[in-house]
Amino acid sequence: MDNKEQLHPCMIVIFGASGDLTKRKLIPALYDLYTRKQMPEHFAIVGVSRTAFSDDDFRQKLFDFKSDNYPDADQWKAFSNHIHYHAADSTKLADFGDMKARLKQLADEHKTGENMLFYLSMAPQFFEPTIQNISAAEMVTEGKRYCSLDRQSKPWQRIVVEKPFGSDPKSATHLNSVLANVFEETEIYRIDHYLGKELVQNMMVLRFANAIFEPIWNQSYIDHVQITASETVGVESRGAYYDGPTGGAMRDMIQSHLLQVLSVMAMEPPVSLKAEDIRTEKIKIFKAMRVPKYDDVPNIAVRGQYGDGQLGGKVIKSFRESEGVNPESQCDTYAAMKMYVDTWRWGGVPFYLRSGKAMAKKVTNIVLYFKPTPHILFRDMAKQRKANQIVINVQPDEGIRIRFEGKVPGHKLAVKDVELDFDYVKQWNAQPPDGYATLLYDVMLGDQTLFKHRDEIECAWHAVQPVLDYWQDNPQFDLPNYAAGTWGPSAADILMAQSNRYWHNPK
Ligand code: BG6
Repeated sequence: MDNKEQLHPCMIVIFGASGDLTKRKLIPALYDLYTRKQMPEHFAIVGVSRTAFSDDDFRQKLFDFKSDNYPDADQWKAFSNHIHYHAADSTKLADFGDMKARLKQLADEHKTGENMLFYLSMAPQFFEPTIQNISAAEMVTEGKRYCSLDRQSKPWQRIVVEKPFGSDPKSATHLNSVLANVFEETEIYRIDHYLGKELVQNMMVLRFANAIFEPIWNQSYIDHVQITASETVGVESRGAYYDGPTGGAMRDMIQSHLLQVLSVMAMEPPVSLKAEDIRTEKIKIFKAMRVPKYDDVPNIAVRGQYGDGQLGGKVIKSFRESEGVNPESQCDTYAAMKMYVDTWRWGGVPFYLRSGKAMAKKVTNIVLYFKPTPHILFRDMAKQRKANQIVINVQPDEGIRIRFEGKVPGHKLAVKDVELDFDYVKQWNAQPPDGYATLLYDVMLGDQTLFKHRDEIECAWHAVQPVLDYWQDNPQFDLPNYAAGTWGPSAADILMAQSNRYWHNPK
């Protein structure tokens, strides 16, 4: 597909460019778009960080980190000619004079005009001063476009903000206000890479392009929903960050990614596919998330932390032994939570969310468990009666599986569960694209569908804050409480068993 006509020329300015995200995700994603001919004809990428690098050193550093990703030397050369580097401290307004001059010179060189995409890829404490300096340096003219006689030709400035977006409701609201002082809401792109994942987007197609799923997608038929994001890796080199105020599985994964996935799974059909219509429906779900009561937290949430363990023959050391981690850390490397969405469609249906590091398997999925048939005719014929399930595998093994009961071949009437399997890779003969490429492309197009609105973020914080407060006030003395390489603490199984339910743990 060649979308160059829809894409305006632009300059991408990455603040915090010497960090991990740039080399691990952003540059590979932009390269992917470039090789698919989905970058504008005129573009430049400018990395900004304090460390000094020449353009060539910076390009080399990006290449060396993931050289397998850039097998075609000519393509890489052509692409990397668009990459530049400018050393500056974005928290110091004094550094913006030179930066602006350099950006102007590069804009002329690459014919990018004045369209600017600012990407905040730095530690969260630098977000606010950087946004304020962008404003003080008069790099945003977007707010004035409504006075323009020729709106089409007015340049745009957009900002992409990485997570963590605040660490509680107050800090998130504050950051939203800081952004709103400088940028229009329509130009703010709060990124969540889970929304860029193919199977999350596919969920909307599954639900709203088919007639067979929506009629049963509600409390009349669904017993409960499980959303899991388990990882086999521990915290590795991110111990200090993870053990800090914005780390822990509840903040790092559940508040952000899993609640977003939930909102797409649970939203009402939008009136159109326009970003604002889709976001309107998602916001309603966020507003309907029941805020748990503080005293109820022990009954609805479980925290865990991994100790020593093994996975695939590899020894994993406990979280507390990781570099930068307090040896008595209370940090949750695992969190599970039962929650409700108080709407007509979902009244009484529990949503169980869980996420953990150093677990038995890397998997992100959504499992809908259906209620039993009203009259259980085949009670005596099934060894074990299993609920019907729709399993949406977000990653890996992307696909959708439906589990139902079938007759075992033979004269005798016996019943056993069988699966209908839509395997993404086999079906399309293609690997799903990386979420970052999809999202960066959308920012350049000006499509906010897959980005979070300020209300979503603030409601998501409210939905988890009582749990975080309770955990903060009540240290847990049995940590670590699960061995690395397992499915998490036994308390999480008990949470399910209390309602005669069990976690869907894929083999
Ligand atoms: C990030 C979290 O947002 O998502 C990490 O900060 C986590 O802790 C990562 O490892 C997981 O992303 P993915 O795409 O590998 O599931």
